Amino acid sequence: MKIDLIVGARPNYMKAAPIYRAMKKFPETFHCRLVHTGQHYDDRMFHIFFKELELPKPDIYLGVGSGLHGEQTGKIMIKYEKAILEDRPDLVLVAGDVNSTVACSLVAVKLHIKAGHIEAGLRSRDWSMPEEINRIVTDNISDYLFTTCREADVNLESEGIPQEKIFFVGNTMIDSLNYYLRRIEEFDTLADFDLESKKFVLVTLHRPSNVDQNSVFKNIFEVLAEIQKKLPVIFPMHPRTKKMLREFGLDTKLKNTPNLKITEPLGYLDFLKLQKEAALVLTDSGGIQEETTVLGVPCLTLRKNTERPITISEGTNELVGSDPEKILDRAISILDGEKKVGKIPELWDGHTAERIVDILRGFRLPRLNRG
Ligand code: UD1
Repeated sequence: MKIDLIVGARPNYMKAAPIYRAMKKFPETFHCRLVHTGQHYDDRMFHIFFKELELPKPDIYLGVGSGLHGEQTGKIMIKYEKAILEDRPDLVLVAGDVNSTVACSLVAVKLHIKAGHIEAGLRSRDWSMPEEINRIVTDNISDYLFTTCREADVNLESEGIPQEKIFFVGNTMIDSLNYYLRRIEEFDTLADFDLESKKFVLVTLHRPSNVDQNSVFKNIFEVLAEIQKKLPVIFPMHPRTKKMLREFGLDTKLKNTPNLKITEPLGYLDFLKLQKEAALVLTDSGGIQEETTVLGVPCLTLRKNTERPITISEGTNELVGSDPEKILDRAISILDGEKKVGKIPELWDGHTAERIVDILRGFRLPRLNRG
């Protein structure tokens, strides 16, 4: 079975790595080609993750880089189509909700090649987010939908997707988390940043809705300026966020916030260590809502909605939007000890990739090849 495993942006790597590893255990069954679209290309958004997640150099690198959504998605499609016309896989596996996900699945199904979507069925119901569009399109064209929770199955069925395409398998990102938790025990990340266990706040923000508007970003910055009076705040900054920080002149305010430490984006392992040891995480990321739930660390999500409601109903996550008073009030109450207790969702057990690979092993090639 020839499989193309697609990655393109930072949140894809930790979802794909366990699948790659699980497939490598069956060399007689799988010939897996690792494809990187080049959506993320900086060392800290690409190479460092490949090294830490023990992924080899991609077999195919499309090198598309940044651009407007249509431009970036289109470039990926043009380049990936050329690659698979030269050497046609039986199945294209995509993960998550980034532009690379929708672009490559679309190319595959148009060429009558089967597509499988890892982390299918999540819905924020917020069409202003490009990720929601990517999720809906990818799910509706894919042949195999691997879901992280039962709500995702319900979402897919309510959109008319036949049950036999849907496989509730759990969360491959949590496979990576469980796999690497032991390795980070010895890590000196806290000492490197002069932090103490459970005595700091970790922040990540990169959504256009939080960082692309001066007034919104400024309000959030003011909240961080308040929190850093209570505990150190560490903020590994996405390139987009750094660009906007400078553009809005917020970088000049940093001299008045000595306890707010802004760093370059961190690698997977250092970031995992910080998440595990943080007293509180503030984020607008998708994956971090899930990782903090498994780690039992309080998480405030600076968004109006989430495609991962299970992290709220079962986990440690809470939605606080971008209202500065609300964010600050809840952050302070958590730091004062009023924490939400959560549990680990069903099948987030570290064995999801094995389940996916078992399912794929059960498919025979004639079933995979359409037409
Ligand atoms: C993408 C995903 C988002 C995910 C995020 C994680 C889409 C629609 N969005 O958003 O879901 O949460 O990745 O990081 O796919 N840039 C660099 N170096 C890089 C990559 C990007 O400097 O290696 C800068 C460029 O200025 C670029 C901007 O970041 O224009 C945005 O990059 P892009 O890939 O378009 O979207 P992200 O915001 O990273």
